Amino acid sequence: MSVAIVFGTRPQIVKSAPIVYEALRCGLDLEVIHTGQHYDYLLSQVFIKEFGLPEPVVNLGVGSGSHAYQTGEIMLRLEKYLVGGRYALVLIPGDTNSALAGALTSVKLGIPVAHVEAGARCYDMSMAEEVNRRLIDHCSRLLFAPTLNCKRNLEKESVVGEIYLTGDTMYDVFLRFRDKAEKSDILERLNLVNGEYGLLTLHRAENVDDPVRLKSILEGVGRTNVEIVFPIHPRTANRIREFNISLEHGNVRVVDPVGYVDMLKLLKHAKLVLTDSGGLQKEAFWSKTPCVTLRDRTEWVETVEAGVNFLVGTDANRIIQAVRFIEDNYDLIRGRFCENPFGDGCAARRIVDIVMRFI
Ligand code: UD1
Repeated sequence: MSVAIVFGTRPQIVKSAPIVYEALRCGLDLEVIHTGQHYDYLLSQVFIKEFGLPEPVVNLGVGSGSHAYQTGEIMLRLEKYLVGGRYALVLIPGDTNSALAGALTSVKLGIPVAHVEAGARCYDMSMAEEVNRRLIDHCSRLLFAPTLNCKRNLEKESVVGEIYLTGDTMYDVFLRFRDKAEKSDILERLNLVNGEYGLLTLHRAENVDDPVRLKSILEGVGRTNVEIVFPIHPRTANRIREFNISLEHGNVRVVDPVGYVDMLKLLKHAKLVLTDSGGLQKEAFWSKTPCVTLRDRTEWVETVEAGVNFLVGTDANRIIQAVRFIEDNYDLIRGRFCENPFGDGCAARRIVDIVMRFI
């Protein structure tokens, strides 16, 4: 029997890539199903190409919509592919609507679910991803926790599935592409000076769909004296247009979304990162670049405890203060990057090994 891996968004493709490589290496029959939640070339296909992944066996073409639409429509379309007893297990990476829909559809068809990146918690139920990951964890048979903290979270919640501490597949893929990223010419293309710019990403619904929060973040970032490069998510670009927010601060340069290799290069050579992404907080940590997180809570508490990730929310003054603090204490903060709590780069190997023993 085959195993399916279901993804639909940019970060899920990143999390899945090392599992697909490992499955190919071990002869595990793994089929990739794309929900179509992300459909723009720069949010989806570019990653499949960069990672050299096989084309998905199907793209469900769901696209954008409300949470209910997206989740419900993915379930209806996915069910048609999962029925018939073809799959022994469905792998679900991450915490998006595609992940939730994939997990619910599988479990309701009686197909066991394995959750990749299980146990991440930020304890903020107003975030769609927190709701999704809790529900997925509680219907999973196998739970692959990226860190010890995630494993403990699952134990506290008494989930019914088996918990494995595997490490983080995002770290596997980071290590694999780190050297290649050094060869990227993105700094030259964007005319950026090594170590002298900040990198901004912003896309969380709770930040960008709220004009007050969005304005406050952009005001804070705009009032720092750092040159900022801002690869913009289409959702954020739409909201900035809709809310008629002008990026009048001359230090912020908006560019198109970038691929994985270019992003690693931008991360490594930035003075600091400002982000509301979960994945980027970890990638900044591995790149040894200080991070300002534009959220009130994070699931990656390890990076905050290490003193290299500063949780500031969306208040403009707090953003400015954090950037100043990093600039004033740069060497001290760079010296704080400690042992990596996200595994040893072999997470996918462990996951595929467990999957092969399970099926
Ligand atoms: C989704 C995930 C989020 C993840 C993010 C990575 C959920 C609830 N959220 O958020 O966890 O961090 O992906 O990017 O699943 N759009 C395009 N082109 C696309 C896709 C989206 O223009 O290819 C625009 C549309 O206006 C759409 C909006 O972005 O309405 C939001 O897309 P959506 O898939 O709902 O969520 P993301 O914000 O991408």
